[in-house]
Amino acid sequence: MVKTMRDPTGWMKNEFQKLVDQNLNWVIRELQGPSTPKAMIDGKEVIMLCSNNYLNLSNHPKLKEAALKAIESHGVGSGSVRAIAGTMDYHLELERRLAKFKGAEASLTYSAGFTTNEGLIPQLVDKGDAIISDELNHGSIIDGVRLTKATRFVYTHNDVGDLERVLIEAEKENPPKMLIITDGVFSMDGDIAPLDGIAKAAKEHGAMVYVDDAHGEAVLGKGGRGIVSHFNLTHHDVQFEMGTFSKAFGVMGGHVSGSRDMVNYALNKSRSWLLSGSHPPATAAACIAAIDVLENEEEHVKTLWENREYFVKGLQALGYDTGFSQTPIIPAMCGESSKAVELSNGLFKEGILALPIVFPMVARDKARIRNMMNSGLTKEQLDVALTAYEKVGKQLNII
Ligand SMILES: Cc1ncc(COP(=O)(O)O)c(C=O)c1O
Repeated sequence: MVKTMRDPTGWMKNEFQKLVDQNLNWVIRELQGPSTPKAMIDGKEVIMLCSNNYLNLSNHPKLKEAALKAIESHGVGSGSVRAIAGTMDYHLELERRLAKFKGAEASLTYSAGFTTNEGLIPQLVDKGDAIISDELNHGSIIDGVRLTKATRFVYTHNDVGDLERVLIEAEKENPPKMLIITDGVFSMDGDIAPLDGIAKAAKEHGAMVYVDDAHGEAVLGKGGRGIVSHFNLTHHDVQFEMGTFSKAFGVMGGHVSGSRDMVNYALNKSRSWLLSGSHPPATAAACIAAIDVLENEEEHVKTLWENREYFVKGLQALGYDTGFSQTPIIPAMCGESSKAVELSNGLFKEGILALPIVFPMVARDKARIRNMMNSGLTKEQLDVALTAYEKVGKQLNII
């Protein structure tokens, strides 16, 4: 027998080196303490402009206290998947509280937003059905869509006219079911999906609507109730209101809200729900406390929006193009990838952590710094950040 000289795993080193050569590898920074508006990263104190912890709830005393209490009473793990022996009173209480908060009949929680999309979307459509997706949807939606056998259609970003064209196209095959799926707030540009127009088109064509409101909940709508509330819609218009506790709620975990029938179906069918361990009780308890805070302390969402307005206006006054931002996600457009990387490095030297978004995440000439606003930032800290943006932006001829 001829002995092969093949190195069975050497390909990984080669693939990684290719990323390094193109400057496309992630260099991971170390957060040495809590995710706070002013945080310690790699030994340096920085103003944090890239956390999804929009309301700084991950540090709220009520959330921390709830988590500690749950550890004392229920331990640190749940011991099982939800369907077998891992549904604790905390999990059920969280689902009741979330449904009430969202104005829905019922809610279901998953381990993460990613696993909600990956586990639920493939169960909603089958071979012969149509799944219709905004061209800029999040990767977790794209993966969920890839797991379906339905015929896939894509419409131009946030364009209801193009969605109608695609619906007519899809109907030619007479699909038994049609599902329209969109991000609520788009994470690269910070623009809002026209959910009212999407829901109207869906109704006219008998399609279901699924919205991923990861960046809209606890940000948009009445008291942060999310995009369905923002557009004064109901769960008859938007049957699947999906979201995550890992961003503005400050904790971790995915969820979907809608009808009781939907939840009964989803929990019996989603493999990521049935076959993955449930949240530690402390996680569920902290999520319940986050809902409590949102219901009782309106100032967090209000301050987030005030900070957002202040920072956008400040960046624009300096001459930055803030793209299509309508929310606390605020791009500072740079053009080429190298400019965005240099701007981010320069800002870091000035004590600001704001990360570049470059090709292939966005088009080659649309590289940017993506700023994520936080309600915990003071006006003084925002001024420090704007001064740094002015200094480094001028050095690099971006402004
Ligand atoms: C639009 C969108 N959907 C889903 C997710 C995944 O959520 P999670 O972090 O809870 O897995 C993210 C997170 O990046 C997101 O931005």
